[in-house]
Amino acid sequence: MNRIFSGMQPTHQLHLGNYLGALRNWVALQKDYECIFCVVDMHAITIDHKPDVLRENIREVTAAYIAAGIDPEKNILFNQSAVPGHAELNWVFACHTPLGWLNRMTQFKEKAGKHRENAVLGLYAYPVLMAADILLYKATHVPVGEDQKQHLELARDIGGAFNRYYEREFFPLPEPQILGEATRVMSLRDGTKKMSKSDESDYSRINLTDDPDTIALKIRKAKTDPEPLPETIEELEKRPEADNLVTIMAALTGRARKDVLAEHAGSQFSGFKGALVDVAVATLGPMTAEMNRLLGDKAEIDRILKRGAERAGAIAEETMNEVKDIVGLLRP
Ligand code: TYM
Repeated sequence: MNRIFSGMQPTHQLHLGNYLGALRNWVALQKDYECIFCVVDMHAITIDHKPDVLRENIREVTAAYIAAGIDPEKNILFNQSAVPGHAELNWVFACHTPLGWLNRMTQFKEKAGKHRENAVLGLYAYPVLMAADILLYKATHVPVGEDQKQHLELARDIGGAFNRYYEREFFPLPEPQILGEATRVMSLRDGTKKMSKSDESDYSRINLTDDPDTIALKIRKAKTDPEPLPETIEELEKRPEADNLVTIMAALTGRARKDVLAEHAGSQFSGFKGALVDVAVATLGPMTAEMNRLLGDKAEIDRILKRGAERAGAIAEETMNEVKDIVGLLRP
């Protein structure tokens, strides 16, 4: 049986990278798979946060999922902390994950910065919890952006380690689904850096909550070079900022980059940016409006999350009972 699990952290607002790299693919995949989409609030407390802001962000991310087109009836949509199995399986996996595997994780090194001894244990163990998220539901496929590839390899390694230790094929080894043209959307200010929720400059990203004027301003101010758009992908790939804008255009219009170049080669970026603004506003505008409408009824969002947690919890409990029996933990 194929089952999808994926999630986003409710830290700050979601941005165009989250949408093009993941959320939009989820919307397409829900037709063919049984899907579980999670708001990973326990991951969000691995970095500095304010409780009231976090609570609101959880609802905002939920609203973004639904506004993008995720059907909360057909799919299971919930927040991670509402299902205790995530923390329970995290501990079991922590007891089967060698430190050497975690020491290789590049995202921890980036996030912990220079003062690694001050970094918290939760940030270090972040990918173990992520493995627990996925395998708690025995998910077979995980649609994510390019930056999560290493974490998914670790999830496969942890599942494999568990299976070997207890001598059975209990967990499936989940396959990453890194789909579409925009698997790594870059910052609008620096084409060598990933578009990220934590970038200090708000001009580096387009937030899903930005209004049309803000989207237009950010795209017009996006860094480019003075050359017109090139003819070939080879030339384009030598120019990171240009490549990023063409990639965004390709993803938003559901085309390949070469087809965008075929249409716009030789144009100046000022003109191209105008076309990109139109496409971005046409795609994101209705989504933002729907998100705001949904956020007007927080009780309804909470009801959706509660119902999702009940459905997710039933699957999780079954897995955890089996895991406890396999591991030798007594269920009196
Ligand atoms: P998060 O919240 O950082 O990102 C959510 C999703 O958005 C993708 N993404 C991007 N894709 C393209 N370009 C970008 N600039 C960009 N930035 C982010 C991410 O790849 C991700 O798919 N660790 C995960 C959350 C998580 C999870 C899981 C995911 C926790 N448990 C289990 C899958 C399965 C994360 O930090 O996502």
